[in-house]
Amino acid sequence: MTSEPVRPILCVVGARPNLMKVAPLIPALGPAASRPVRLVHTGQHYDFGMNDAFFDDLGIAPPDVNLGVGSASHALQTAEIMTRIEPVLEAERPALVVVVGDVNSTLAAGLVAAKLEIPVAHVEAGLRSFDRTMPEEINRVLTDQVADLLFTTEPSAHTNLTREGIAPERIHFVGNVMIDTLKRNLARAVPPAETLAQAGASEGLSAAPRDYALLTLHRPTNVDDKECLARLLEIVSEIARRLAVVFPVHPRTAARIEAFGLRALLDQPGLLALPPLGYLKALGLMAKARLVLTDSGGMQEETTALGVPCLTLRTTTERPITVDEGTNTVVGNDPARIRAAFEDVLATGGKAGRVPKLWDGRATERIAAVVATWLPKGT
Ligand code: UD1
Repeated sequence: MTSEPVRPILCVVGARPNLMKVAPLIPALGPAASRPVRLVHTGQHYDFGMNDAFFDDLGIAPPDVNLGVGSASHALQTAEIMTRIEPVLEAERPALVVVVGDVNSTLAAGLVAAKLEIPVAHVEAGLRSFDRTMPEEINRVLTDQVADLLFTTEPSAHTNLTREGIAPERIHFVGNVMIDTLKRNLARAVPPAETLAQAGASEGLSAAPRDYALLTLHRPTNVDDKECLARLLEIVSEIARRLAVVFPVHPRTAARIEAFGLRALLDQPGLLALPPLGYLKALGLMAKARLVLTDSGGMQEETTALGVPCLTLRTTTERPITVDEGTNTVVGNDPARIRAAFEDVLATGGKAGRVPKLWDGRATERIAAVVATWLPKGT
């Protein structure tokens, strides 16, 4: 009698912010659960700078399967991921599908797995901005509804999930895997001077610690409207006259800047626009910045872990602990508020904050332990 092969754990990634979350999980889950781990990449992000650079920096082995979906509208991209991942899940019959974060790939993979009656674990569950115009908010709410195991980073997530009818025994407060990755890699981060020299920064732009601000922008609400993007780039130019600004530009934002004819707003002596940066360069710049201006979700958490003041250029946050306990201030995209908050950081040094509970570099271990007990033994 031949015994059934042990069913694998299948991790799914698609977009840049998934990679730092899955990096520590891949090597930890297999040994803990005594199962092979396979990685599926949907291909949502595909540029070297948005993807391959992160695999290299974080030492993630190449995906076992790449679905190659690429860019498209939300409906097309989500549908294409679902169509292409279904036969992979049918062939692999994994014991568990692990999805992370809130991108289209997260929801698409979770939904297909749930319909095939394959258990789903959602890492970074329960975060809510309460803004349904954000595509990520739809992805968060729906992924959590189909997940069997929900791993949370902060107490607000538990409140949100139980309000939405999720049984408390499915929710596990484990901390933040992205902060595990940060702690493991901080000593390897590329010094800012090296990054700026490689980028050909002018002599006038100092890479000395706390001598510059780091800026990132990519949310559709900030970059898809010409007037809004122009207003933001104008206030950035103003800030760059006081403190150098380093601006790695997301491809969506670069495309909008070109299409709207706003390129001239980047031509400022104190403003350095760069292509997207790999993880170790971005981490190096973030750790030594005077402040970070961003509409990213992950950077709100990373700056809180690093103790660097963060001005979030959105009107809401799904990560309220970064405001209540960390270094984050939600300032929206109104130039007057951004200016006032920036001046405040220059004058006072910004919010000091403390590192939230369980953001201690050990979230991966906690997740692996829960998965190991939860999965059936054997096949
Ligand atoms: C996605 C996530 C967002 C996350 C962000 C991080 C969703 C709904 N959004 O947004 O939550 O914060 O990733 O970057 O899943 N593009 C390239 N090369 C790439 C990838 C994208 O040129 O490798 C361009 C394409 O023109 C594409 C656009 O960027 O149309 C947007 O890409 P998409 O994956 O749809 O969303 P992001 O804005 O990157």
